[in-house]
Amino acid sequence: MKEIRNILILTGAGISAESGIPVFRSETGLWEQHRVEDVATYEGFMRNRPLVHEFYNRMRRNLFNVRPNPAHFALARLANEWKKGSVCLITQNIDNLHEAAGSGNVIHMHGELMRISCESCGAVVDWDKDSSVDTRCPKCGEAAMRPHIVWFGEIPYHMEHIDELLRDCDLFMSIGTSGVVYPAANFARMTHALGAYNIEFNLEKSATAGSFDRGIYGKAGTTLPEFVDSLLKTENLDFLDR
Ligand code: APR
Repeated sequence: MKEIRNILILTGAGISAESGIPVFRSETGLWEQHRVEDVATYEGFMRNRPLVHEFYNRMRRNLFNVRPNPAHFALARLANEWKKGSVCLITQNIDNLHEAAGSGNVIHMHGELMRISCESCGAVVDWDKDSSVDTRCPKCGEAAMRPHIVWFGEIPYHMEHIDELLRDCDLFMSIGTSGVVYPAANFARMTHALGAYNIEFNLEKSATAGSFDRGIYGKAGTTLPEFVDSLLKTENLDFLDR
């Protein structure tokens, strides 16, 4: 099997499910309980700003009640202990559980609950309280703050950097994502075409399962620590074929 130096990881809502944060797409998922166009589009925000602020306020408050699970810790350990190359972490999640587990430089392509941004001057500020239509920008003073979240129809953050990482990885790991939201759903196709070894960790096959060399199915809180242990011990993927 190809030698691995650079590891790129993409996480989705499934990695935080065992911490008690609901995923988006399931019978009890967040999008079963809310209309996406009301709380996750700019048009929805224009229609009812207080409702959208409150929706994200509730999610932000909940972050104080949740803890990272063994899957988050396993990824932080991998980044700390992998010496053969880089380990980069891209998440679609807006929670802060990777950071809480000790991962640094997490790329939040869909934004972060712990930040808000100013529609007037563009400032992005750390924020751990509630926000509202009256919240003033600490930089320009305007009451024009919005959740620092990428809504449907908006362009995800850090795409240029992500593009470089996708081209430069030998192992691409996708964890807990259904693979239906673009552009993240395209990442596996791209790394696969460029010769990386692709592994998905999920409860079941994702919509992009065809772009993976290997699927490891089960709860990420169990499968990921085992995988990281073996990878750090052997420094290659031969253990997968044993
Ligand atoms: N371990 C591993 N995978 C899990 C676990 C678990 N314990 N629990 C659930 N999963 C899997 C589900 O099987 C599903 O495939 O995680 C996936 C979660 O899928 P979604 O709810 O669609 O979440 P995600 O893929 O992150 O959504 C992408 O969609 O609505 C937008 O912006 C939102 O970032 C989000 C994006």
